[in-house]
Amino acid sequence: MKQFNTKILGTGSYMPDKILTNYDIAKRVDTSHEWIVERTGIHERRISDLSKDENPSGMAARATLKALEAANLTPNDIDCILLSSTMADQPMPNAASMLQFKLGITNNCPALDVNAACSGWMYLLPMADAMIKTGMYKHILVVGSEMLSSFNNWDDRNTCILFGDGCGVAILGRAAENEDSKIYSTVLSSDSSKKDHLALWAGGSNMKLTHELLDSKDQWMTMNGQEIFKAAVKTMAAHAEKVVKDAELTINDVDWFIPHQANLRIIEAVGQRFNFPTEKVVINVQKYANTSSATVPVALDEWIRAGKIKRGDNILLAAFGAGLTAGAVFLKY
Ligand SMILES: CC(C)(COP(=O)(O)OP(=O)(O)OC[C@H]1O[C@@H](n2cnc3c(N)ncnc32)[C@H](O)[C@@H]1OP(=O)(O)O)[C@@H](O)C(=O)NCCC(=O)NCCS
Repeated sequence: MKQFNTKILGTGSYMPDKILTNYDIAKRVDTSHEWIVERTGIHERRISDLSKDENPSGMAARATLKALEAANLTPNDIDCILLSSTMADQPMPNAASMLQFKLGITNNCPALDVNAACSGWMYLLPMADAMIKTGMYKHILVVGSEMLSSFNNWDDRNTCILFGDGCGVAILGRAAENEDSKIYSTVLSSDSSKKDHLALWAGGSNMKLTHELLDSKDQWMTMNGQEIFKAAVKTMAAHAEKVVKDAELTINDVDWFIPHQANLRIIEAVGQRFNFPTEKVVINVQKYANTSSATVPVALDEWIRAGKIKRGDNILLAAFGAGLTAGAVFLKY
């Protein structure tokens, strides 16, 4: 059977206009701009406005239009939609179907939501790669779109400083015979022994949102920050090393490293673990905080649009999140 190499045909991102600074947060909880910057590197984050349809599918529609333009494609050229969101627009129907509608796609392409928390977009890349390689689909829209402001407890200083809203997408397709774009290697994992360190206990089938539950404020996410921090550093560094080795290349062959943007200290610690030059690490956590599965595609899009990432560059992507899920992808752009 003929196999194809996977190429990123176009990328796009969309961030809400509304900026929430550390100073704004410090008016509500006992924290300070200085503390947040020192411990996380975050200065500000974006917050969705539902009156502007800035929910996961609405942000994804805007980001996709930019990616379609970059790829020189039209909405009906997309023949599969894969969308990652930790909390999609609503439990039913899925956000990928809503996105198909918002894009005016009429070809009835499949539309699938995936929830692997912050690793969701990374989880989708190997799936899309397999489907492109085998010729199953030609143009797969891979979305990470997140509205963490909807389940972030704005009265909990341990978590509320960390998160923001936004969306990043990539359209994956076939590389032409004379092109060398490809996905070299991928790794995905989940360490469920740490599943309780980052969780949202209510709102699903287990725990319905009752008046009593809302009164007890148990509808928000909870986190053991230090455990997540340690696991994130260890796993992202190990995954990054593995995909480079599996590609039979070395760290010196990596042009750009795009890690999940959760905390600047985590990013720096991962880079140090495998002696990676800091100038090749893509960082935008200071502007957007942690937008869960959107962080990597947003950073990828920003660096491509700024002309820093160029065709032929080797890009290493790594993510981790609740679960604890994690993954890395090494590719030639
Ligand atoms: C959350 C995080 C920033 C906390 O930083 P830290 O250096 O581990 O801080 P600690 O948890 O040790 O807390 C130190 C103190 O600061 C306090 N503190 C916590 N949040 C604070 C805030 N926003 N402002 C001021 N003080 C704060 C704590 O209450 C604690 O006080 P205590 O010593 O009196 O108990 C850090 O652990 C982290 O980023 N973890 C990873 C989280 C993450 O990435 N989650 C998403 C995964 S996808």
